Amino acid sequence: MSYARIIGTGGFLPEKVLTNADLEQMVDTSDEWITKRTGIKKRHVADSEQTTCDLAEIAARNAIDAAGIQAREIELIIVATTTPNRVFPSTACLLQQRLGVNGPAAFDIQAVCTGFIYGLSIAEKFIRTGSVKTALVVGAEVFSRIIDWSDRTTCVLFGDGAGAVILQASSEPGILSTHLHADGSYQHLLTVPAGISESYDVLKQGTAFVQMQGSEVFKVAVRTLEKIVEETLAANNMSQEQIDWLIPHQANIRIITATAKKLNLSMDRVIVTVDSHGNTSAASVPLALDIAIRDGRIKRGDTLFLEAFGGGFTWGSALLIY
Ligand code: UT7
Repeated sequence: MSYARIIGTGGFLPEKVLTNADLEQMVDTSDEWITKRTGIKKRHVADSEQTTCDLAEIAARNAIDAAGIQAREIELIIVATTTPNRVFPSTACLLQQRLGVNGPAAFDIQAVCTGFIYGLSIAEKFIRTGSVKTALVVGAEVFSRIIDWSDRTTCVLFGDGAGAVILQASSEPGILSTHLHADGSYQHLLTVPAGISESYDVLKQGTAFVQMQGSEVFKVAVRTLEKIVEETLAANNMSQEQIDWLIPHQANIRIITATAKKLNLSMDRVIVTVDSHGNTSAASVPLALDIAIRDGRIKRGDTLFLEAFGGGFTWGSALLIY
């Protein structure tokens, strides 16, 4: 069986930037509070015309260019998103049409902030089993649409963006293992409690917003991510010293620091974008990965630890040789 290797990455952030100073004008908050509690200084926000698919398309095209392939070589498209363009068709199908890759399977994954890791894991299985040779996995969000901009406990945390990878079959090591988990008993701690078949009125009123019990989420996230570090290293019979880079989900610098500590990695081996992107949910890991590959920090042959934690709760990791 062949490995699935990342052969190209891409990212995209909408132009509009919202700083902590801007938020100070909107809600009762301060740059000092946001910086100290989260590490966030600014985030990008899509304009009212920009859709998740718009962001995903640019990230995907950047990844295709970086991979040096033609879009028509893609045999599988997975889009991880919590903020799809429509109820249906999936954002993956809309993206497929834009890329002109008609025919191959395309579907969305909903695992909130862990969505990209879920998508990566699924695509890897398709490649490993020989079903497809080349896959596109995108994490894309316009999270700003499900934020109550008058709620200071959530509106300071999130941002919009998209990140993408092209995976291809290879005889050289790529993804070594992925680990996916979920525990729906925590659904109430982080949720948008409205949808098509539940609380549809709330959706119709346009008030379906993120609700989070932040400190509870924080505690479970730290504990769970520590456990998944152990699980991932054990599955590969590897030790902390063999990890070159941690590419974590970017929710809070304090959660990231705790995971880095568990991996015994100094912060200069951790890719941090939370300061300038905020939490972009499913887009955060591929965006961070793309930035660190493009600026030359991550090099071919490096061993990468990717992880995420989000609503559901869902959580997951991927260990790979870049
Ligand atoms: O990506 C999905 C996973 N999500 C996460 O992992 C997020 C996890 N949670 C967190 O990152 C943190 O819990 C938060 C950043 C959301 C909050 O930090 P915290 O240190 O847990 O603060 P807290 O919720 O315990 O609130 C402390 C105080 C409260 O005031 P009182 O009750 O102590 O008077 C809040 O009302 O801070 C207040 N507060 C704020 N103050 C200024 C909450 N939000 C703000 C704000 N500005 N934006």
